[in-house]
Amino acid sequence: MALDEKVIVITGGTSGIGEACSRHFAGLGAKVVIASNQPEAGVALQDELQAKGQEARFIETDVAAEEDVENLVAQTLDIYGRIDCLHSNAGVWREGTVKEFSEDDWQAIVGVNVKGNFLLLKHIVPVMEQQGQGVVLITTSVAAFVGFPAHALYCASKAALEALIRCLATDHAGVIRAVGICPGTIDTPMLRASCEGWDIPEDELLAQVAEKIPVRRLGQPEDIAKAAAFLLSDDASYINGTSLMLEGGTLALPPW
Ligand SMILES: NC(=O)c1ccc[n+]([C@@H]2O[C@H](COP(=O)([O-])OP(=O)(O)OC[C@H]3O[C@@H](n4cnc5c(N)ncnc54)[C@H](O)[C@@H]3O)[C@@H](O)[C@H]2O)c1
Repeated sequence: MALDEKVIVITGGTSGIGEACSRHFAGLGAKVVIASNQPEAGVALQDELQAKGQEARFIETDVAAEEDVENLVAQTLDIYGRIDCLHSNAGVWREGTVKEFSEDDWQAIVGVNVKGNFLLLKHIVPVMEQQGQGVVLITTSVAAFVGFPAHALYCASKAALEALIRCLATDHAGVIRAVGICPGTIDTPMLRASCEGWDIPEDELLAQVAEKIPVRRLGQPEDIAKAAAFLLSDDASYINGTSLMLEGGTLALPPW
């Protein structure tokens, strides 16, 4: 896997899928810039990876705030001089139909999931253009393709990212390779938070969900990390403008 020496900025790199990606990329020899709004976890992860002799820096970042994104890009360039890959993975989840969302829900979901991506790309695409190359990987979701009950805003925010991946591949052809990864049901703090409010215990609920997935288990963050490393690597150099489903075959099930 050719990630050796690549400078990879990963957002949301301190929890769940992003944390597993930060660990995996660093283990494969990448120089990993871990960006998130979880400073304690970020510094602890940075220190742990550095203590193992790996290359990792944490930069506290709210991806929905342009000055934070500008700082992330400036600091990364100061430290490493380039950005080979962006893995835009930070995301927030909230429930609700179109009848229920508040201004706060809109700001949180659209602000992080959609605007956060636009801000990162606004400031990182010019760097990649100057370098002559770069790879952008965005964590979307099967929610972009399925109308999950009472998830209108979340699903729509992830569908926007699928369109964005195609736009990046056409607008920046020859320079940027743009790919998406669509997790299904991955065992992370976000998934566990989504179990609140059900009248059966969390583990029982997740066991029932796992039983319905064709591979008969929940996804683990490491499942995503291994696929993400491949998509970022030169081995995936002909994969562009599309997304990889990582849902254990859930979308292959018949709709009854
Ligand atoms: N867990 C799943 O089943 C699943 C399924 C499909 C898609 N996803 C997507 O995968 C991504 C990672 O989710 P996860 O399950 O690991 O969740 P998580 O809650 O464990 O991690 C989310 C990360 O995003 C960061 N983040 C949130 N808002 C931020 C902001 N404003 N600025 C910077 N960082 C911010 C958090 O600090 C955290 O590190 C998300 O985009 C999510 O939508 C998850």
